[in-house]
Amino acid sequence: NERTYIMVKPDGVQRGLVGEIIARFEKRGFKLIALKLVHATPEHLEKHYADLAGKGFFAGLIKYMASGPVVGMVWQGLDAVKTGRAMLGATNPLASAVGTIRGDYALAVGRNICHGSDTVENAEKEIALWFPEGVTQYTNVAEPWIYE
Ligand code: GTP
Ligand code: MG
Repeated sequence: NERTYIMVKPDGVQRGLVGEIIARFEKRGFKLIALKLVHATPEHLEKHYADLAGKGFFAGLIKYMASGPVVGMVWQGLDAVKTGRAMLGATNPLASAVGTIRGDYALAVGRNICHGSDTVENAEKEIALWFPEGVTQYTNVAEPWIYE
């Protein structure tokens, strides 16, 4: 069962979009297996975004991400990584389709309110980084109504 790491960024928390973002994943049928509000350190965020270390916007990205608490979560379900990215929308909100989270609630690439893992491999790395204590497993009684 595929898992993805989804995070509400500091701007999403400040703008009161945590519930909205959680609601979309819940309503889609994904199962919440971990959830945490944390004010991450720059060092932690540099690990999370290590692949982008050479980019010109990297310092600004780390400052933005460390500017307030984030809400990290793990969602499990069919094709969770790809579907999660589709629900977030394109990186640049101006290019995000209406109906996606960024396409409905954001305008600037540097304030795009949410993060989603881009591959299954990176999802597992990010889950280990943000939830070293592990996730919770339980039975969701709605599952026979979500999957055939
Ligand atoms: P995440 O889900 O946050 O990982 O975004 P992404 O996978 O859609 O994009 P990527 O991993 O390439 O970039 C990570 C984050 O860096 C983006 O979500 C943006 O917030 C920021 N970012 C990416 N490209 C730019 C850019 O050209 N300028 C600025 N200011 N920020 C950028
Ligand atoms: Mg990314």
